[in-house]
Amino acid sequence: MTQNTSNFEILKSIVESRRTLKPEAMNGKQIPADIFEQVLGLADWAPTHGRTEPWRFFVYTGESLKAFCATHAEMYKVNTSEENFNPATFENILHKGDLASHLVIAAMKRGTNPKIPAIEEIASSSASIENVLLGAAAQGISAMWNTGGMAHKAALKAYLHLEEEDHILGLIYFGFSDEPVKEGKRNTPISEKVKYL
Ligand SMILES: Cc1cc2nc3c(=O)[nH]c(=O)nc-3n(C[C@H](O)[C@H](O)[C@H](O)COP(=O)(O)O)c2cc1C
Repeated sequence: MTQNTSNFEILKSIVESRRTLKPEAMNGKQIPADIFEQVLGLADWAPTHGRTEPWRFFVYTGESLKAFCATHAEMYKVNTSEENFNPATFENILHKGDLASHLVIAAMKRGTNPKIPAIEEIASSSASIENVLLGAAAQGISAMWNTGGMAHKAALKAYLHLEEEDHILGLIYFGFSDEPVKEGKRNTPISEKVKYL
């Protein structure tokens, strides 16, 4: 097997075996800081049109993770009308990080180069997130990209001092799990999503 073939096989197995695991199924073990930093560092190698490097990450762990979850739940309460407020949702947000090691809020910070449309900066930031998810998978770290709670609400953006034109792309929970990695599932075969012309 040539070097390239073997690199491809390794990458393919990581890509195909990466699975979303909800933070409630994590085991509370802490990811060593140096490992986490290396995994998150992979974000910086996403493709970036015009080198705007629009990905930004807000990292919570330990006490700051607990504090953020409390703030997040409170933010939900304060910004939800009485008739729409659901106590179960409040509890879910409050305890979502209980068994996670790290929570990363991933955002796209809009650059100033007018030649680069926002969609390209969202695309680039999303690619940076996938780099991180794959790095986590390769390290045996479970993760969930979540857009529940206040992820798409202005209040969370303001809390993070992001501007209107920036976007929060998700809250990503990381941790270890004792569960075996689940089998992947796709509804439509790749052949139906690709056209060779
Ligand atoms: C932009 C984005 C937002 C997501 N938000 C949620 C979410 O709010 N809740 C959730 O359960 N999963 C969320 N997911 C994860 C998907 O449910 C998951 O990727 C999908 O079920 C496929 O499973 P896999 O990641 O294991 O291949 C999100 C994924 C993406 C890309």
